Amino acid sequence: VFAHVAQAQDDPILGVTVAYNKDPSPVKLNLGVGAYRTEEGKPLVLNAVRKAEQQLVADRSHVKEYLPISGLADFNKLSAELMFGADSPAILENRISTVQCLSGTGSLRVGGEFLASHHHQPTIYFPTPTWGNHHKIFTRAGLSVKAYRYYDPTTRGLNFHGLMEDLGSAPPGAVVLLHACAHNPTGVDPTLQQWEQIRKLIRSNGLLPFFDSAYQGFASGSLDADAKPVRMFVADGGELLAAQSYAKNLGLYGERVGALSVVCGSSDVARRVESQLRVVIRPLYSSPPIHGASIVATILKDRDLFHEWTLELKEMADRVISMRHQLFDALQKTGTPGDWSHIIEQIGMFTFTGLNKAQVEFMNKEYHIYMTPDGRISMAGLSTRTVPHLANAIHAAVTG
Ligand code: LMR
Repeated sequence: VFAHVAQAQDDPILGVTVAYNKDPSPVKLNLGVGAYRTEEGKPLVLNAVRKAEQQLVADRSHVKEYLPISGLADFNKLSAELMFGADSPAILENRISTVQCLSGTGSLRVGGEFLASHHHQPTIYFPTPTWGNHHKIFTRAGLSVKAYRYYDPTTRGLNFHGLMEDLGSAPPGAVVLLHACAHNPTGVDPTLQQWEQIRKLIRSNGLLPFFDSAYQGFASGSLDADAKPVRMFVADGGELLAAQSYAKNLGLYGERVGALSVVCGSSDVARRVESQLRVVIRPLYSSPPIHGASIVATILKDRDLFHEWTLELKEMADRVISMRHQLFDALQKTGTPGDWSHIIEQIGMFTFTGLNKAQVEFMNKEYHIYMTPDGRISMAGLSTRTVPHLANAIHAAVTG
């Protein structure tokens, strides 16, 4: 009965790792998926996470019962405080419903399904380009998908004018997907002044912001600074959705831990919204897993562990920034033609190199370097040892 089933295409991001794993070359380098690696090229489990896990193992009262449909209560409360600030008026007024979800993807999907059933304008606008999974998540959730201009390839920066024009002509009620910080894949973020203009436009045109916050703390190294754009939108009293992921900032990739918050107009509305989020979640996966959320809650409520986490987070962010400088310097040294200053100007885990598909393929074939076909490289996958290999490959691709 399944003989007619066609082979699906590999995922453009996760498929890169599949191809990388099959390559026997000793010099192979995976700069595809946005996952942090140490200087030695190894995945990292943070000390704060290890300690939290030890506490959980030692605690005999910590059992493996089902969580409620909406997840671990402490985790939800602390996640909202991390995103919006503990003194956020929306938290103090109980206007936020937060549910634990399966990392960023699950949070976006639950939010998308909720909007498809309960929002009068089920159209969502994405920046061009955006994370490849956004289209799939929201189309599957039943929303119609539109684009707004974001990245300008000629300046390798933000097309602010195009963004304002496109959002300015979006119909009232349309949902606008915004990357809270460290835009994926471009590494280009609006300035705070530009955020303020975006906020005014969104509010005056009655659009609904939906923040994807996958890199809080990874852009600047500060959790509060990276949450600033989201908090600006909460401070004006308006509504929004926010999806949080702990994959990158706590290195909890495979634990699939995240949260969806819906900031509502009143506590009464928030209560009803939460009841509908539970209606979305129950038939999807019943209730979320307990382990990752317990790790996060343990860290967020313990001053020492929290402090240790912020230091480790800063260290990861700083290492990525140092990789940007090392790659930029190496390209200067090899005399690679072109302006590569965007490598040091872009923010977060990724550099949107500007390399085209043919150059990406060349680097893959000749240098065993793996990246997404759009020329995005994960700076977090690079180390002092591998920078020269990448610089030589870019040089050969550009001059070849
Ligand atoms: C990425 O963009 O590389 C990450 O967000 C991982 C993923 O799931 O795509």
